[in-house]
Amino acid sequence: MNVRQVSLSQPFSDQKPGTSGLRKSSRQFQTPDYLESFIEAIFRVLPGVVGGTLVVGGDGRYGNRQAIEVICRMAAAHGVGRIITTTGGILSTPATSHLIRQRQAIGGIILSASHNPGGPEGDFGVKVNGANGGPAPESITDAIYAVTQGLEGYRIAEPEGDAGDSDGAARRLEAPGSWSLGSLVVEVIDGVEDYVALMQRLFDFDAIAGLLQDDFPMAFDAMHAVTGPYAQRIFEQLLGAPAGTVRNGIPLEDFGGGHPDPNLTYAHELADLLLSGDAYRFGAACDGDGDRNMVLGTGCFVNPSDSLAVLTANATLAPGYADGLVGVARSMPTSAAADVVAKELGIACYETPTGWKFFGNLLDAGRITLCGEESFGTGSNHIREKDGLWAVLFWLQILARRRCSVARIMAEHWGRFGRHYYSRHDYEAIASDAARELYGRVRGMLPALVGQGFAGRTIRLADDFAYTDPIDASVSSGQGLRLLLDDGSRVVLRLSGTGTQGATLRVYLERYVTPTGNLNQDPQAALADLITAIDGLAEIRSRTGMERPTVIT
Ligand code: G6P
Ligand code: ZN
Repeated sequence: MNVRQVSLSQPFSDQKPGTSGLRKSSRQFQTPDYLESFIEAIFRVLPGVVGGTLVVGGDGRYGNRQAIEVICRMAAAHGVGRIITTTGGILSTPATSHLIRQRQAIGGIILSASHNPGGPEGDFGVKVNGANGGPAPESITDAIYAVTQGLEGYRIAEPEGDAGDSDGAARRLEAPGSWSLGSLVVEVIDGVEDYVALMQRLFDFDAIAGLLQDDFPMAFDAMHAVTGPYAQRIFEQLLGAPAGTVRNGIPLEDFGGGHPDPNLTYAHELADLLLSGDAYRFGAACDGDGDRNMVLGTGCFVNPSDSLAVLTANATLAPGYADGLVGVARSMPTSAAADVVAKELGIACYETPTGWKFFGNLLDAGRITLCGEESFGTGSNHIREKDGLWAVLFWLQILARRRCSVARIMAEHWGRFGRHYYSRHDYEAIASDAARELYGRVRGMLPALVGQGFAGRTIRLADDFAYTDPIDASVSSGQGLRLLLDDGSRVVLRLSGTGTQGATLRVYLERYVTPTGNLNQDPQAALADLITAIDGLAEIRSRTGMERPTVIT
C-alpha cells in the first residue's frame, strides 16, 4: 500500500459541524481537499481509530459512493482495522447506529445532509457517530473543528487494483464481499438485514401483517431516499402489503429532484392522498437518511409532538416495550404533550435542547426509554438515533392492537390528556444579518418582558434556554428564546442549526386545552392570537420582508 501525504496550502475555516454534522452544498464538498480535510480531522480526533472498526454508509445522494471510496483510502492510511459498509453504500442513519452497536465499532461516518435536497446543485453532508451509536457529542465535534482550522495536510492511500478508476470503485460496492487495502479490511454487507431483524425483535410482525391484510390499505413514501429498500423488505416482503405500497422506493442521487423532508409541505403528494381522499387508512414517509417520520391517518395528520405522546401512552402494546418505560425526553421546542402522559404514568420526563445528541447520555444512563422532537424525530433506547421506520412500525403495532382509525386514537388521546395545539412556522433563507438582528433584539428584550401582556395573557417567564446535562453536568446555553405564558401557552424562537443558505428562523407555537375544552379546532386558528402577537413583538414580517412562513408544520 502506498500512502500519499497531501499538503494543504491553507486550512478550511468553515468546517464547523452544525446541529447534525458538517452540511454544505455539494459544490462546496467538491472543492479539492474539502472532504479529505474533514475526514482527516475525524481520524485525528475519534478515539480508537488504530485497529478499530468503523461503520460507513450514506443516504445514496450525489457524492455518496465517491466519499466512501475516499474514506476507505484515508482509513487505510490511518491504520483503521475494518470498515463495514453496504451494497450501494446505502445505509440509513438508524441502521448505522444499530450496526455500530452490534459490531462494537468505534463509531461511524454517515454521508448525508438528511432532509436537504441532493444532487450536484443540492447539499451533501458528513455526520460522525461515536461508539454508543449516537451523534458525536459537542466535545468531539468541537475538537474536529479545531483540527480543521489548523490542518496542514492529510494522509491517503493510493487506490489499488480496479479501485483506481471510479467504475471499479463503484463495482466493489455492488454486492456483499470484502477486500483489503494494507491492513484495512473493507467488508460490504447487505445494509437492510440486521436492521430488519432488530425491528422483528421489538414488534409483533404477525399482528401487523394481520392488520394490513384486513382491509387496511397503507401508503409509504420513501421520497426516493434511503428508506426505499428497507420499506420494501419490511412492508411488501415481510408484512405482505401489496406491491406499490412503497412509493418512490428507489434511492436516487438527487431524490428525483424532490426535497426529502417528510412534512406537509415537502411530502404533499402523500399528504393529499390521506387528507383529501379515503383510499388509504394509514400513510407515512421518512426523510433522506431515514431518521425522520411523518404519520397520517385518513383525514388526520399526526403532529410529531403528539406522536411521541401517543407512543408513550401506548408503549406497552409493543412486545419490545411491554415492561413499561423508565422515562421519556423531548427537545425544548417540542410540545409538552408527552409531559402530561409521563406525569400520569409516574415516569420521569426530561427537556433537552434541539438535537438528538442531547438524548444520548439519558439513553446510555438508562434514564429514558423513548424520546422525540417536533422536527419529526422519534426514537428509543434500541439505538442512539431517531428512527423513522421504527416509529411507523410502532404506530402500526398500536393500530394492530387497537383496531381503530388514527383519528380515533388521537381523539381518545386528547379526550384523556387534553390537547396541545401546536405549530411551527419557518422563515427559510433569510439574510443572515437580518436574522441575527431580529433574534438579538428579542433576546435583549427578554428581561423586561416578564409580567407584560401578550396575546391576552401575561408573560410568566422569558429566557434563552440553557440545559445542564443531568449525567455529565455539561452546560449548553443559547438554545432558544422562550416566552412562557400564564395559561401554559408558549412561543419559542430559534435559529436553525441545519440550514445551508442564509438563516432560518423557527417560531414554535403551543397552547394547551384541557380534556373538557374545545379539542377540535384547526391548530392555525387555535394559535392565531399567538401568531399575531409574536409577529408584533419580534417584527418578523417587516424585518424578514416575508409576508408568511415558507414552511408550516
Ligand atoms: C436534525 C437533528 C434533530 C433536530 C433537527 C432540527 O434533524 O438530528 O435532532 O431536531 O435537525 O434542527 P434545526 O437546528 O434545523 O431546527
Ligand atoms: Zn434525517
